Amino acid sequence: MKQDLLTILDLGKDLVEEILDLAVDMKTHRGAPAHRSILGGKSVATIYEKPSTRTKLSFAVGIYELGGNAIELTASGSQLSRGETYADTGHVLERYVHGVVFRALKHEAVCELAAACGVPVINALSDQHHPCQILGDLMTVQERFGRLHGVEIAFVGNGSNIVHSLMCGVAVLGLKLRVATPPSATPLDSVKELVAPVAQASGAVIEYGVDPIAMVTGADVVYTDVWFDMGKDHERDARLHEYRPYQLDDALLAHAKPTAVVMHCLPAMRGEEITNEVMDGPQSIVFDQAENRLHVQKAIMAKLLV
Ligand code: CP
Ligand code: NVA
Repeated sequence: MKQDLLTILDLGKDLVEEILDLAVDMKTHRGAPAHRSILGGKSVATIYEKPSTRTKLSFAVGIYELGGNAIELTASGSQLSRGETYADTGHVLERYVHGVVFRALKHEAVCELAAACGVPVINALSDQHHPCQILGDLMTVQERFGRLHGVEIAFVGNGSNIVHSLMCGVAVLGLKLRVATPPSATPLDSVKELVAPVAQASGAVIEYGVDPIAMVTGADVVYTDVWFDMGKDHERDARLHEYRPYQLDDALLAHAKPTAVVMHCLPAMRGEEITNEVMDGPQSIVFDQAENRLHVQKAIMAKLLV
């Protein structure tokens, strides 16, 4: 039975922990000759319906470093652009490749393609989830603090794919998360409902609110994301004022622990959700996060595609 990664909830605690351990090993032993045989003789299709810098590069480099063959399809350069369905595309892909990495406009598209495809499908970001990002971020938190349990994570800003995946990761592993979003940009109820029983079972504590200071106070990690997702830039002028109180600046960060770290999935819109001072300041670990995408995705592929 193939294992997809559409959301972190798909994996469960044991597999998430195995992926995080293997990611550390991949990082420590980067370039080890044995890695080249993990995807030896295997091909992976990558499909991007939205722009990407980190995901596209880290998957291409990661597949190469595991000895595999990466084939990139852009949505515009494939028959998806002419209306071939995601399901038909999934049926075709399984006849050629050993895994699919898919960045989709709509989460439903990743689900449709995965349901039709007999080889594992990895969600490389949809409008609702970004599991590879958050698995890399959990690796980064563990690397920084030496543990995940007891680390208090606060998220401020846009209640979208990044915070949804953070909620899933925290729920699966039994961690602590406080979420502050504008009332107009809260996480989806449908995702909250999926996460709640998993959090209950693992002992995770997830609080939702609208007050950024209350949620950041005493945090070990302060995480933010762009206020306007890819494809939503047209909302900027009308909605910027709703987000202003959620900007991660020195004043907001001062409410976190003095030892707190600052995280951002990137790309950042400097001067909107995060100031230059915070992004470039000593508490920022945003580029460690970007690097760890490579290591964690190699671990994901080593676990799911072989
Ligand atoms: N964080 C992230 O997924 O970046 P890209 O959009 O550049 O891939
Ligand atoms: N929430 C952002 C994440 C980018 C990696 C977006 O969807 O554009």
